[in-house]
Amino acid sequence: RQKRLTPTDITALKGVRPAVCLTAYTTPMTRLFDPHCDLLLVGDSLGMVLYGMETTVGVTVEMMIAHGQAVMRGASHACVIVDLPFGSYQESKEQAFRTAARIMKETGCDGVKLEGGEEMAETVAFLVSRGVPVFGHVGLMPQQVNTAGGYRSKGHSDAEAEKIRRDARAIDQAGAFAIVIEGTVEPLAREITGTIAAATIGIGASPACDGQVLVSDDMLGLFNDFKPRFVKHFADLAGVISKAAEDYAGEVRARSFPGPEHTFQVRPKK
Ligand code: KIV
Ligand code: NA
Repeated sequence: RQKRLTPTDITALKGVRPAVCLTAYTTPMTRLFDPHCDLLLVGDSLGMVLYGMETTVGVTVEMMIAHGQAVMRGASHACVIVDLPFGSYQESKEQAFRTAARIMKETGCDGVKLEGGEEMAETVAFLVSRGVPVFGHVGLMPQQVNTAGGYRSKGHSDAEAEKIRRDARAIDQAGAFAIVIEGTVEPLAREITGTIAAATIGIGASPACDGQVLVSDDMLGLFNDFKPRFVKHFADLAGVISKAAEDYAGEVRARSFPGPEHTFQVRPKK
């Protein structure tokens, strides 16, 4: 088996070339993404794009482990990071370590991602100093949708920009190898990228970041419940799949599928 990129390799891309990241949740999709990506994120976005949940708040550690294992079976090149879901790390640094260690042991992934700024810095330092590579996540933090009053882009006011700046610095100084910046205005994402050691991975945070990530089902045009400004459809899989289902249904109803080539006949006796 080929050796996968490490979190250290991802940080080393900073200032060299953009880091390419996609979310991945299943083995077959991972096999398709892996050769093209530096980093694969088993995101808790799976709650919304795979399970039909309205937010990521209901995602469990067991769900993350099942999908983390599926992704690890398909990854041979990219670094694989698994999201810590809501409620599995915010209570204490000890709780965070327990959850992170369980996920790393049961999946074999390369590290974990957690959302949060200054309030999570102590936790990030605790994890990193004990052998858990941490991918941070600042700006728009979907697990905080209930206190934030919805999904809105960040950094428009000076006060909000200053808070995100301090969050990114705190997580960087705590030792995160990379930090997702989500839904954040360009000048701030650019400034943070230029002033921290960690690689910044943007989603709705401008081309100034050290790398980019998208939710794979979004960029494939598979999850179309809503389309944030920062999503680009690189394909229309929803259209392709609807058409396939429609054609299949038509052929079954017309009895034109299965054809002779799909049908077993008794082998002639010798
Ligand atoms: O869960 C997820 O997919 C994420 C990325 C969008 C960064 O956290
Ligand atoms: Na996430």
